[in-house]
Amino acid sequence: MKPTHKRLIMGTMGLGGSWESPDYEPADIDLAHAVLEKAKEIGIDTLDTADIYRHGASESVIGEVFKRDRELERHFRVQTKCSIQLPNLQHPWTRYNSAGTYIREAIELSARKLGRAPEIMLLHRFDPLMDLKDTAFAIKSALDSGTIGAWGVSNYSAWQVERLADEVGSYPVANQLELSLSARGFVEHAMNAPFTGSRPGSDYQPGTVEYCADHEVQVQAWSPLARGAFSAPEVSSPTADKVRELAQTHETTPATIVLWWLTMHPAGIVPVIGTTNAERIASCRDALAPSKLTRLEWYELLTTVRGGNCP
Ligand SMILES: NC(=O)c1ccc[n+]([C@@H]2O[C@H](COP(=O)([O-])OP(=O)(O)OC[C@H]3O[C@@H](n4cnc5c(N)ncnc54)[C@H](OP(=O)(O)O)[C@@H]3O)[C@@H](O)[C@H]2O)c1
Repeated sequence: MKPTHKRLIMGTMGLGGSWESPDYEPADIDLAHAVLEKAKEIGIDTLDTADIYRHGASESVIGEVFKRDRELERHFRVQTKCSIQLPNLQHPWTRYNSAGTYIREAIELSARKLGRAPEIMLLHRFDPLMDLKDTAFAIKSALDSGTIGAWGVSNYSAWQVERLADEVGSYPVANQLELSLSARGFVEHAMNAPFTGSRPGSDYQPGTVEYCADHEVQVQAWSPLARGAFSAPEVSSPTADKVRELAQTHETTPATIVLWWLTMHPAGIVPVIGTTNAERIASCRDALAPSKLTRLEWYELLTTVRGGNCP
Protein backbone atom coordinates (compact mmCIF):
# COMPACT_ATOMS: atom_id res chain seq x y z
CA MET A 1 0.00 0.00 0.00
CA LYS A 2 1.35 3.41 -0.96
CA PRO A 3 1.04 6.24 1.57
CA THR A 4 -1.39 9.10 1.16
CA HIS A 5 -0.93 11.55 -1.69
CA LYS A 6 -2.42 14.40 0.30
CA ARG A 7 0.09 17.02 1.33
CA LEU A 8 -0.58 17.05 5.09
CA ILE A 9 -0.94 14.45 7.84
CA MET A 10 -2.62 15.11 11.21
CA GLY A 11 -0.28 14.28 14.10
CA THR A 12 -1.89 13.21 17.38
CA MET A 13 1.00 13.32 19.85
CA GLY A 14 -0.96 16.01 21.74
CA LEU A 15 -4.07 13.86 22.21
CA GLY A 16 -4.91 11.50 25.09
CA GLY A 17 -4.37 13.45 28.30
CA SER A 18 -1.11 13.61 30.21
CA TRP A 19 2.25 12.03 29.41
CA GLU A 20 2.30 10.51 32.88
CA SER A 21 -0.18 7.67 32.44
CA PRO A 22 -2.34 5.86 29.88
CA ASP A 23 -5.50 7.16 31.62
CA TYR A 24 -7.73 9.64 29.86
CA GLU A 25 -10.95 11.55 30.55
CA PRO A 26 -14.09 12.07 28.46
CA ALA A 27 -12.77 15.60 27.77
CA ASP A 28 -9.72 14.03 26.07
CA ILE A 29 -12.03 12.09 23.74
CA ASP A 30 -13.97 15.29 23.03
CA LEU A 31 -10.74 17.09 22.13
CA ALA A 32 -9.64 14.22 19.86
CA HIS A 33 -13.08 14.27 18.22
CA ALA A 34 -12.83 18.01 17.55
CA VAL A 35 -9.30 17.64 16.12
CA LEU A 36 -10.29 14.78 13.81
CA GLU A 37 -13.37 16.68 12.62
CA LYS A 38 -11.36 19.79 11.85
CA ALA A 39 -8.64 17.80 10.10
CA LYS A 40 -11.26 16.07 7.94
CA GLU A 41 -12.95 19.39 7.23
CA ILE A 42 -9.77 20.93 5.82
CA GLY A 43 -9.06 17.85 3.68
CA ILE A 44 -6.63 15.69 5.68
CA ASP A 45 -7.17 11.93 5.40
CA THR A 46 -4.33 10.39 7.45
CA LEU A 47 -3.63 10.37 11.18
CA ASP A 48 -0.19 9.87 12.68
CA THR A 49 0.11 8.34 16.14
CA ALA A 50 2.44 6.02 18.11
CA ASP A 51 2.13 3.42 20.82
CA ILE A 52 4.05 5.69 23.22
CA TYR A 53 2.14 8.94 22.69
CA ARG A 54 0.61 9.89 26.04
CA HIS A 55 1.58 6.41 27.25
CA GLY A 56 -0.67 4.84 24.64
CA ALA A 57 -3.67 7.08 25.22
CA SER A 58 -3.33 8.83 21.85
CA GLU A 59 -4.24 5.56 20.11
CA SER A 60 -6.95 4.91 22.70
CA VAL A 61 -8.74 8.23 22.17
CA ILE A 62 -8.58 7.80 18.39
CA GLY A 63 -10.25 4.39 18.87
CA GLU A 64 -12.89 5.98 21.11
CA VAL A 65 -13.65 8.66 18.51
CA PHE A 66 -13.94 5.97 15.82
CA LYS A 67 -16.48 4.11 17.99
CA ARG A 68 -18.48 7.32 18.38
CA ASP A 69 -18.27 8.42 14.78
CA ARG A 70 -18.10 5.73 12.11
CA GLU A 71 -17.86 8.31 9.35
CA LEU A 72 -14.61 9.63 10.81
CA GLU A 73 -13.42 6.05 11.17
CA ARG A 74 -14.09 5.40 7.48
CA HIS A 75 -12.47 8.67 6.46
CA PHE A 76 -9.06 8.29 8.11
CA ARG A 77 -6.11 6.04 7.45
CA VAL A 78 -4.10 5.50 10.60
CA GLN A 79 -0.34 5.41 10.74
CA THR A 80 1.12 4.33 14.05
CA LYS A 81 4.62 3.54 15.32
CA CYS A 82 6.35 1.11 17.65
CA SER A 83 9.85 0.23 18.89
CA ILE A 84 10.41 2.86 21.60
CA GLN A 85 9.85 1.76 25.19
CA LEU A 86 9.34 4.61 27.63
CA PRO A 87 10.91 4.64 31.09
CA ASN A 88 8.80 3.09 33.84
CA LEU A 89 9.21 2.37 37.54
CA GLN A 90 10.95 -0.92 36.86
CA HIS A 91 13.25 0.39 34.08
CA PRO A 92 13.66 4.16 34.41
CA TRP A 93 15.38 4.63 31.05
CA THR A 94 14.23 4.80 27.44
CA ARG A 95 14.94 1.73 25.32
CA TYR A 96 14.33 0.79 21.71
CA ASN A 97 12.99 -2.64 20.81
CA SER A 98 12.67 -3.96 17.29
CA ALA A 99 12.63 -7.64 18.22
CA GLY A 100 10.11 -9.63 16.18
CA THR A 101 8.10 -10.75 19.21
CA TYR A 102 7.95 -7.18 20.48
CA ILE A 103 6.77 -5.81 17.13
CA ARG A 104 4.05 -8.47 16.87
CA GLU A 105 2.74 -7.64 20.35
CA ALA A 106 2.91 -3.88 19.70
CA ILE A 107 0.88 -4.24 16.48
CA GLU A 108 -1.73 -6.32 18.30
CA LEU A 109 -2.02 -3.79 21.11
CA SER A 110 -2.28 -0.83 18.72
CA ALA A 111 -4.99 -2.61 16.72
CA ARG A 112 -6.94 -3.35 19.90
CA LYS A 113 -6.86 0.32 20.95
CA LEU A 114 -7.64 1.67 17.49
CA GLY A 115 -10.37 -0.90 16.93
CA ARG A 116 -8.83 -2.00 13.65
CA ALA A 117 -5.55 -2.84 11.96
CA PRO A 118 -3.36 0.23 11.37
CA GLU A 119 -2.96 1.02 7.68
CA ILE A 120 0.72 1.88 8.19
CA MET A 121 3.17 0.88 10.94
CA LEU A 122 6.46 2.77 11.29
CA LEU A 123 9.46 1.62 13.27
CA HIS A 124 9.91 4.71 15.41
CA ARG A 125 13.71 4.77 15.71
CA PHE A 126 16.58 2.54 14.65
CA ASP A 127 17.30 0.00 17.38
CA PRO A 128 21.09 -0.50 17.61
CA LEU A 129 20.46 -4.06 18.84
CA MET A 130 18.17 -4.90 15.92
CA ASP A 131 18.51 -8.39 14.48
CA LEU A 132 17.71 -7.48 10.89
CA LYS A 133 16.41 -10.91 9.90
CA ASP A 134 14.16 -11.21 12.95
CA THR A 135 12.72 -7.70 12.50
CA ALA A 136 12.26 -8.15 8.76
CA PHE A 137 10.50 -11.48 9.31
CA ALA A 138 8.05 -9.83 11.74
CA ILE A 139 7.33 -7.06 9.23
CA LYS A 140 6.80 -9.49 6.36
CA SER A 141 4.52 -11.71 8.48
CA ALA A 142 2.45 -8.68 9.53
CA LEU A 143 2.09 -7.61 5.90
CA ASP A 144 1.18 -11.14 4.76
CA SER A 145 -1.42 -11.63 7.50
CA GLY A 146 -2.90 -8.15 7.00
CA THR A 147 -2.29 -7.02 10.59
CA ILE A 148 -0.72 -3.94 9.00
CA GLY A 149 -1.35 -2.51 5.55
CA ALA A 150 2.15 -1.17 4.98
CA TRP A 151 5.45 -0.67 6.81
CA GLY A 152 7.62 2.38 7.22
CA VAL A 153 10.30 3.92 9.40
CA SER A 154 11.02 7.09 11.30
CA ASN A 155 14.27 8.86 12.11
CA TYR A 156 16.18 6.43 9.87
CA SER A 157 19.18 7.50 7.81
CA ALA A 158 19.55 6.39 4.19
CA TRP A 159 21.83 3.47 5.03
CA GLN A 160 19.50 2.31 7.81
CA VAL A 161 16.57 2.33 5.39
CA GLU A 162 18.67 0.44 2.86
CA ARG A 163 19.75 -2.28 5.31
CA LEU A 164 16.24 -3.06 6.51
CA ALA A 165 14.65 -2.73 3.06
CA ASP A 166 17.16 -5.30 1.74
CA GLU A 167 16.04 -7.81 4.37
CA VAL A 168 12.30 -7.11 4.08
CA GLY A 169 12.44 -7.24 0.29
CA SER A 170 10.51 -3.99 -0.16
CA TYR A 171 11.12 -0.33 0.62
CA PRO A 172 9.29 1.29 3.51
CA VAL A 173 6.40 3.47 2.32
CA ALA A 174 7.58 6.39 4.47
CA ASN A 175 10.43 7.76 6.55
CA GLN A 176 9.37 10.38 9.12
CA LEU A 177 12.10 12.89 10.00
CA GLU A 178 12.33 16.17 11.86
CA LEU A 179 12.31 18.76 9.05
CA SER A 180 11.40 22.42 9.27
CA LEU A 181 12.77 25.93 8.84
CA SER A 182 14.41 25.21 12.19
CA ALA A 183 15.55 21.62 11.52
CA ARG A 184 16.89 22.50 8.08
CA GLY A 185 20.09 20.46 8.16
CA PHE A 186 18.86 18.58 5.09
CA VAL A 187 19.09 21.80 3.06
CA GLU A 188 22.25 23.11 4.72
CA HIS A 189 24.02 19.82 4.17
CA ALA A 190 22.97 19.64 0.54
CA MET A 191 24.49 23.09 -0.04
CA ASN A 192 27.69 22.25 1.84
CA ALA A 193 28.03 18.64 0.69
CA PRO A 194 31.37 18.92 -1.11
CA PHE A 195 33.01 20.52 1.93
CA THR A 196 34.21 18.96 5.15
CA GLY A 197 34.44 20.42 8.63
CA SER A 198 31.87 21.94 10.91
CA ARG A 199 29.67 23.85 8.52
CA PRO A 200 25.92 24.28 9.04
CA GLY A 201 24.20 20.96 8.41
CA SER A 202 27.36 18.90 8.97
CA ASP A 203 25.50 17.16 11.81
CA TYR A 204 22.93 15.89 9.31
CA GLN A 205 23.10 12.39 7.80
CA PRO A 206 23.90 13.16 4.15
CA GLY A 207 21.43 12.46 1.42
CA THR A 208 18.69 10.86 3.51
CA VAL A 209 15.89 12.99 2.08
CA GLU A 210 17.18 12.61 -1.48
CA TYR A 211 17.67 8.86 -1.04
CA CYS A 212 14.07 8.44 0.13
CA ALA A 213 12.73 10.50 -2.77
CA ASP A 214 14.75 8.43 -5.25
CA HIS A 215 13.30 5.19 -3.84
CA GLU A 216 9.71 6.42 -3.56
CA VAL A 217 9.86 6.41 0.23
CA GLN A 218 7.53 9.23 1.26
CA VAL A 219 9.43 11.82 3.29
CA GLN A 220 7.28 12.96 6.20
CA ALA A 221 8.24 15.96 8.34
CA TRP A 222 7.61 15.92 12.09
CA SER A 223 7.46 19.21 13.99
CA PRO A 224 7.09 20.97 10.61
CA LEU A 225 5.81 24.17 12.22
CA ALA A 226 8.74 24.16 14.65
CA ARG A 227 6.02 24.42 17.30
CA GLY A 228 4.93 27.86 16.16
CA ALA A 229 8.44 29.38 16.29
CA PHE A 230 7.88 31.32 13.05
CA SER A 231 4.10 31.43 12.74
CA ALA A 232 2.72 32.27 16.19
CA PRO A 233 1.29 35.82 16.24
CA GLU A 234 3.20 36.70 19.40
CA VAL A 235 6.61 35.76 17.97
CA SER A 236 8.88 38.60 16.94
CA SER A 237 11.99 37.78 14.90
CA PRO A 238 13.31 38.60 11.42
CA THR A 239 12.09 35.17 10.20
CA ALA A 240 8.63 35.52 11.74
CA ASP A 241 8.38 38.99 10.17
CA LYS A 242 9.41 37.62 6.76
CA VAL A 243 6.87 34.79 7.12
CA ARG A 244 4.13 37.34 7.92
CA GLU A 245 5.15 39.47 4.93
CA LEU A 246 4.99 36.46 2.58
CA ALA A 247 1.64 35.43 4.06
CA GLN A 248 0.30 38.87 3.11
CA THR A 249 1.78 38.66 -0.38
CA HIS A 250 0.12 35.28 -1.00
CA GLU A 251 -3.07 36.09 0.94
CA THR A 252 -2.61 33.13 3.25
CA THR A 253 -1.53 32.34 6.82
CA PRO A 254 1.97 32.33 8.34
CA ALA A 255 1.57 28.61 9.11
CA THR A 256 0.99 27.92 5.41
CA ILE A 257 4.16 29.80 4.44
CA VAL A 258 6.21 27.73 6.91
CA LEU A 259 4.71 24.51 5.49
CA TRP A 260 5.04 25.61 1.86
CA TRP A 261 8.75 26.11 2.47
CA LEU A 262 8.90 22.37 3.12
CA THR A 263 6.43 21.14 0.51
CA MET A 264 8.19 23.11 -2.24
CA HIS A 265 11.25 20.85 -1.86
CA PRO A 266 11.39 18.37 -4.78
CA ALA A 267 11.46 15.36 -2.40
CA GLY A 268 7.69 15.78 -1.98
CA ILE A 269 7.85 16.32 1.78
CA VAL A 270 4.56 15.69 3.62
CA PRO A 271 4.32 17.69 6.88
CA VAL A 272 2.77 16.02 9.95
CA ILE A 273 1.18 18.91 11.84
CA GLY A 274 0.70 18.48 15.57
CA THR A 275 -1.47 21.30 16.87
CA THR A 276 -4.61 20.38 18.81
CA ASN A 277 -6.06 23.86 18.34
CA ALA A 278 -8.90 23.96 15.77
CA GLU A 279 -8.03 27.47 14.58
CA ARG A 280 -4.38 26.53 14.10
CA ILE A 281 -5.38 23.37 12.19
CA ALA A 282 -7.58 25.52 9.93
CA SER A 283 -4.65 27.90 9.38
CA CYS A 284 -2.79 25.04 7.64
CA ARG A 285 -5.55 24.47 5.05
CA ASP A 286 -3.80 26.25 2.15
CA ALA A 287 -0.75 24.04 2.65
CA LEU A 288 -2.74 21.18 1.10
CA ALA A 289 -2.41 23.04 -2.19
CA PRO A 290 0.92 23.33 -4.02
CA SER A 291 3.35 25.93 -2.72
CA LYS A 292 2.96 29.37 -4.26
CA LEU A 293 6.34 30.58 -3.04
CA THR A 294 8.64 31.68 -5.79
CA ARG A 295 12.19 30.38 -5.93
CA LEU A 296 13.35 33.83 -4.83
CA GLU A 297 11.00 33.84 -1.83
CA TRP A 298 12.11 30.32 -0.80
CA TYR A 299 15.74 31.45 -0.75
CA GLU A 300 14.84 34.74 0.89
CA LEU A 301 13.23 32.83 3.75
CA LEU A 302 16.21 30.47 3.99
CA THR A 303 18.66 33.38 4.05
CA THR A 304 16.64 35.12 6.76
CA VAL A 305 16.37 32.08 9.03
CA ARG A 306 20.08 31.14 8.66
CA GLY A 307 21.03 34.77 9.34
CA GLY A 308 23.23 35.19 6.27
CA ASN A 309 23.72 34.33 2.64
CA CYS A 310 23.92 30.76 1.37
CA PRO A 311 27.53 29.69 0.76
N1 LIG B 1 8.61 10.36 14.50
C1 LIG B 1 8.98 11.08 15.54
O1 LIG B 1 10.03 10.83 16.17
C2 LIG B 1 8.12 12.23 15.97
C3 LIG B 1 8.56 13.14 16.94
C4 LIG B 1 7.72 14.20 17.28
C5 LIG B 1 6.48 14.33 16.67
N2 LIG B 1 6.05 13.40 15.74
C6 LIG B 1 4.74 13.53 15.06
O2 LIG B 1 4.70 14.78 14.44
C7 LIG B 1 3.53 15.49 14.87
C8 LIG B 1 3.82 16.95 14.87
O3 LIG B 1 4.86 17.24 15.80
P1 LIG B 1 4.78 18.57 16.67
O4 LIG B 1 3.53 18.60 17.42
O5 LIG B 1 6.05 18.73 17.39
O6 LIG B 1 4.72 19.61 15.43
P2 LIG B 1 4.29 21.11 15.16
O7 LIG B 1 3.06 21.06 14.31
O8 LIG B 1 5.49 21.80 14.63
O9 LIG B 1 3.96 21.76 16.57
C9 LIG B 1 2.73 21.62 17.21
C10 LIG B 1 2.96 21.79 18.68
O10 LIG B 1 3.40 23.13 18.93
C11 LIG B 1 2.44 23.81 19.75
N3 LIG B 1 2.26 25.19 19.26
C12 LIG B 1 2.38 26.29 20.01
N4 LIG B 1 2.13 27.39 19.30
C13 LIG B 1 1.85 26.99 18.05
C14 LIG B 1 1.50 27.66 16.86
N5 LIG B 1 1.38 28.99 16.79
N6 LIG B 1 1.29 26.93 15.75
C15 LIG B 1 1.41 25.59 15.79
N7 LIG B 1 1.71 24.89 16.91
C16 LIG B 1 1.94 25.58 18.04
C17 LIG B 1 1.16 23.01 19.59
O11 LIG B 1 0.34 23.26 20.71
P3 LIG B 1 -1.27 23.37 20.51
O12 LIG B 1 -1.74 21.96 20.47
O13 LIG B 1 -1.70 24.09 21.73
O14 LIG B 1 -1.54 24.13 19.26
C18 LIG B 1 1.70 21.60 19.50
O15 LIG B 1 2.09 21.12 20.78
C19 LIG B 1 3.18 14.88 16.23
O16 LIG B 1 1.82 15.04 16.58
C20 LIG B 1 3.53 13.43 15.99
O17 LIG B 1 2.45 12.81 15.31
C21 LIG B 1 6.86 12.38 15.38
